[in-house]
Amino acid sequence: MDRRISSGWALLVLCSLPDLLMDRADIHMICEGIEVLCVFSNWELSNIISKMGCPVSKASSPPAYSYAPLPGDGTIRVLTLYGGNLEDPLRGELECVAVDAAGVYEPLSYVWGNDTLTNEIFLPTAQLKLTASIYHALRRLRPRTGSRRVWADQVCIDQRNTEERSQQVQFMNRIYRNGSHVQVWLGLDEQDLAEQAFSFVRHLAGLLANDKEHTAFDMDNLADQSVDYWMPLRHITTLPWFRRGWIVQEIGTRTPATLLWGEAEMAWDALNDVCEKLAEYHHLRVKFKVATSVIKYLHRRFVEPETRSRHDNRFSFIYELHRARHLNFTDPLDRVYAMLGHYSIRHGRNNELKRLVVDYEKSVEEVYTDVAARALTGDNDSLITLAAVQHTRSPSPIEASPRRERRLPSWAPDWRTSQGHIMSEPTSPHRACGSKKPDLRITPSAPEVLTIRGTRIDLIENCSDVLEKGAFHEKKINSGNTTRAAVETLWTEICGNANGFGLHNKYAGGEESSFFAYVQTLSNGCMAIYWQDHAAEEYGAVPHEKWLAHGAAYLAKVVDKAAISPELRGLAEKGDAHKWSRAATGASHNRRFARTTRGYFVMGPQAMEKADIVCVLFGGKMPFCLRPCPGSGFYLLVGECYVHGFMNGEAVDTGMLERREVDERVFEIV
Ligand SMILES: *[C@@H]1O[C@H](CO)[C@@H](O)[C@H](O)[C@H]1NC(C)=O
Ligand SMILES: *[C@@H]1O[C@H](CO)[C@@H](O)[C@H](O)[C@H]1NC(C)=O
Ligand SMILES: *[C@@H]1O[C@H](CO)[C@@H](O)[C@H](O)[C@H]1NC(C)=O
Ligand SMILES: *[C@@H]1O[C@H](CO)[C@@H](O)[C@H](O)[C@H]1NC(C)=O
Ligand SMILES: *[C@@H]1O[C@H](CO)[C@@H](O)[C@H](O)[C@H]1NC(C)=O
Ligand SMILES: *[C@@H]1O[C@H](CO)[C@@H](O)[C@H](O)[C@H]1NC(C)=O
Repeated sequence: MDRRISSGWALLVLCSLPDLLMDRADIHMICEGIEVLCVFSNWELSNIISKMGCPVSKASSPPAYSYAPLPGDGTIRVLTLYGGNLEDPLRGELECVAVDAAGVYEPLSYVWGNDTLTNEIFLPTAQLKLTASIYHALRRLRPRTGSRRVWADQVCIDQRNTEERSQQVQFMNRIYRNGSHVQVWLGLDEQDLAEQAFSFVRHLAGLLANDKEHTAFDMDNLADQSVDYWMPLRHITTLPWFRRGWIVQEIGTRTPATLLWGEAEMAWDALNDVCEKLAEYHHLRVKFKVATSVIKYLHRRFVEPETRSRHDNRFSFIYELHRARHLNFTDPLDRVYAMLGHYSIRHGRNNELKRLVVDYEKSVEEVYTDVAARALTGDNDSLITLAAVQHTRSPSPIEASPRRERRLPSWAPDWRTSQGHIMSEPTSPHRACGSKKPDLRITPSAPEVLTIRGTRIDLIENCSDVLEKGAFHEKKINSGNTTRAAVETLWTEICGNANGFGLHNKYAGGEESSFFAYVQTLSNGCMAIYWQDHAAEEYGAVPHEKWLAHGAAYLAKVVDKAAISPELRGLAEKGDAHKWSRAATGASHNRRFARTTRGYFVMGPQAMEKADIVCVLFGGKMPFCLRPCPGSGFYLLVGECYVHGFMNGEAVDTGMLERREVDERVFEIV
């Protein structure tokens, strides 16, 4: 090459080389000693040349990319990522396409991580700054030659344009559903764990795929292993990607997906298959603390099940928002917006929710209140929205809040906090309201007031502390130890029984024994055992003796024999202490146990206090706890509760109303 050629010629030579796929040495040779004057738009070339050590005039520094507005409502951008060698800068090109005719592309799913823009991709006319995370992801995806069409939010959506972000979010699930293959970037493998972790999953898959006999042998074998043996799987499940809120709709479709972790990779379905199989081995997961449930939760979350099942809960959008509470979102609005593509809305009957529009200009309080109002007024069948309210602190009346507009009404769930499962889940067979449908309204002039009809049952009189996590574990208390099991303390201190456990005391003036009401209240009517053992039967058809025996078995296991009547001890032989322990542990999580003035037992929310009232609201599967606001006539919603004796329509359908044991009224909840 003639070194005396002018810079213009040098550039022409470079520009005409196909795709710049030439050796660095060549460029160096061409450019050596010449000053490249970059007066036209191919600044990227000059960038490369300058990195070669050739002087380049300042005019060449690349402008920041500025997005042209999308041409229409139904369009998205797709990135064509050009091939390159490992050390080459990222290069690509954005094109606008109709969302329904985007062709073959691979949507990318990744964690934003540190949002400092430390890297860049070169687009034909400018450079676009990127976070390190997506930069590494794109580098991993980039072919050596040719190109690849990908969709990635950070590049394909103008992140600084709130209006565009709001508008594009509605396509998000469609983009992933419609892509040819989802590429998941789990991050760099800086500690060199990935290969071992994926190999371990493949190894487990092999063991678990064997026939029954082998499986029994292998599972024993697995259970005997050390914690270290299981560590590779824990490394996977603790990666931040699995907790990122947006990924639910990204990975939850039928589109095939591959997990990329550093240089290693694994099919998403292969990982999920192993987690599905491990689901049967509860003891293993507990022993080795492997959170395979985070993976099972994600798998096909956005795919409507073909047959009706226990998963029918997923047909409720509110239930889905609730189930996503454990996930991490940077923007709390996305707790709602990232779920809008879910089939519970698309195929659901709630037209109010279908009309919800993404708007990043709104405050969290506005959006959460709007969701709650739409979910309530567009649903003529359930009050699950109210059941999803889980206050972590005592709800406060509007007057007490410093900035009125910055407060959620007590009846609107705050999706940022999580307190455990919803007892009124859609599949729950409880029916506190009998056949009554919701009777409620929210008026535009007072959008913070929920007016709702129901019946008042009673007043909370004695209320426990928040129950401890292990309160109903199967711990045998050694004799001589003055600490008593929770099942004993609550029985004496809240229920007021001093003479041990038996079946002679009747519950709240009725026919049932007080002890039966007690163990049913603590375990949410043994609901977990119902799903495990009796799901094929009607809940109401399971003989009460079965539930009673499980409660008695637990009692016999943790309380001194002398305190239990012979009759109960006899029943205990027919029950399963472990099953009851698990049912009560789940039901009591972050809840309080209480007794009302007339002696009803209540399992209520963490925020429940003495002098709250319990009531049945029309349309509600479970009773609710409300708190009167002194002097105003308004109420605050405290939360859902189990109230034994009112779980099957008693408060609305029987003679209780006529006998004035409960009274019907309209509550104004703020
Ligand atoms: C994307 O979805 C539309 C319907 O929403 C369909 O007509 C089209 O064929 C899909 N494209 C691809 C590439 O799957
Ligand atoms: C994010 O990255 C930048 C640049 O690498 C660094 O200065 C900053 O401390 C990081 N922030 C966090 C929160 O890690
Ligand atoms: C969720 O995000 C918070 C703060 O951004 C972080 O401290 C926490 O570790 C994250 N949790 C998970 C499970 O990634
Ligand atoms: C409830 O709403 C559905 C659909 O919106 C409608 O078909 C049904 O008739 C309604 N039922 C009642 C009792 O209003
Ligand atoms: C009494 O039993 C409790 C619960 O099992 C245990 O935590 C505690 O250490 C025991 N106390 C004594 C003095 O043994
Ligand atoms: C329940 O509370 C009342 C007062 O509200 C009190 O007199 C009674 O002793 C309490 N009962 C128990 C079992 O603590």
